Amino acid sequence: MNLFDVYPLFPIEIVKALGSALWDKDGNEYLDLYGGHAVISIGHTHPRYVQRVTDQLNKIGFYSNSIENPLQVQLASLLGKVSGKEDYQLFLCNSGAEANENALKLASFYNGRKKVIAFTGAFHGRTSLAVAATHNPKIVAPVNETENVIFLPFNDEEALEKAFADYGEEISSVIIEGIQGVGGIQVASISFLQKIRTLTKQYNAVYIADAVQCGYGRSGRFYSHDYADVNADIYSMAKGMGNGFPIGGISIAPHIKPWAGMLGTTFGGNYLACAAALAVLEILEEEKLMENAKQIGDYLKLEIAGFNNINEVRGRGLMIGIDLPEEMKDLRKNLLFKHRIFTGEAKPYMIRLLPALSLSKEHADHFLEAMYEEIK
Ligand SMILES: Cc1ncc(COP(=O)(O)O)c(C=O)c1O
Repeated sequence: MNLFDVYPLFPIEIVKALGSALWDKDGNEYLDLYGGHAVISIGHTHPRYVQRVTDQLNKIGFYSNSIENPLQVQLASLLGKVSGKEDYQLFLCNSGAEANENALKLASFYNGRKKVIAFTGAFHGRTSLAVAATHNPKIVAPVNETENVIFLPFNDEEALEKAFADYGEEISSVIIEGIQGVGGIQVASISFLQKIRTLTKQYNAVYIADAVQCGYGRSGRFYSHDYADVNADIYSMAKGMGNGFPIGGISIAPHIKPWAGMLGTTFGGNYLACAAALAVLEILEEEKLMENAKQIGDYLKLEIAGFNNINEVRGRGLMIGIDLPEEMKDLRKNLLFKHRIFTGEAKPYMIRLLPALSLSKEHADHFLEAMYEEIK
C-alpha cells in the first residue's frame, strides 16, 4: 500500500530532537523555528514531559470516558488557573478541527440557531462545519457546503455591525482567530474583538475564540484574544496543548450548561493526553515561557523590521509573519537547505515563524544572521 499523497514533502528525515534543535538521519543539526506547525510549545523532548508521559504509559494509557479520570479534573483546574478563566468548563477532544467543530455545535445547542459568522482569510480546520467556516473553497467538498456560514471582511467593524443589524437574531456564533495563521499572520484588531464581544452579547450569540494556533501562550498572553481584555464564550485550543501529543479542547463559559450526552468522544481526554497537557502547563508556568515568547518575539520583530528589503513583519510573541518581495521567493528553501533552519510559510512569499516558546536569544540571533546573509 502507498501513502495517500496529499503532503508536499521536503526530502529530510528527522530522527532526534531536543529543545529547538533537530537532527536528521545523517547527523545534521537544524534549528526549528517551525515547531512542527506551531505544535511544539515547551520544546522537543523536554525531560519532564518525557518522564511524565512515560510514567503514565507504565500505569495506564487508555480506558474510557465512562469512568472517572482524575487527570482530566487536574488538567481543567490547572488550565483554568493558567489561562485566568477558573470558572470556565473544559471539554477535551483530539485536534483543532474537532475543538472548533464542538465549539460551533455547542453554540448552536446553546441558542438554538444556525448561522455562523466567519471571516475572510480564516482557517478553522477540515471537519465538516470547521471547514465550512474556513475561507478556502479549494478544501471545502460539496458535502460540506452550507448557507449557514457567512463570511465577512476581517477587521471590518462596519460590516459586522450591519450583519447583526440585518439578521442578528439568526446568528448562533462568531468564530475568529486572534491572529490568523494560515491566512498570513493577520492580527485581529483589539477594537474588532471588542466589537464582536459587544454584539454577540447584545444578540445572545456566542463568541468563539479560535486559539488553536495563536493560543497556549504563543502570543505572549495565554490566548492571543486576551489582548482585547474581553472574555470569549468559548476558546478552542489544540496544537501547543500537548507539545505533539494529540489533544484539543474547548474552554466554555459558565453560562453555557452541559447535559449528559451533549458532546462526546472516544479518545478525548485519555490518560496519556492529559499527562502530556499537564506537563506542558507546569513547564509553561515554571519556565515562564509566555514571558519568554513575548520578549524574544518582540526582539525578533524589531530586528526583522530593520531589514529594509522585506515588505512587512507582523504578529505577536512567537507567532511572526514576514512578507517578502517576490524576488525573495526562495528564502524559505535557502534557510532550510543552506542554513539548516526550519521555518513555516503562509501565502506565497511569506515566512511564518512558529518556534518553541523556549526559543533563546542565541537561536534568534542565529536566524537573524542567516536572514541577513540571504537578503543583504
Ligand atoms: C487557527 C486554526 N484552527 C484550527 C486548526 C485545525 O487544527 P487541526 O489540524 O489540529 O485539526 C488549525 C490548524 O492549522 C488552525 O491553525
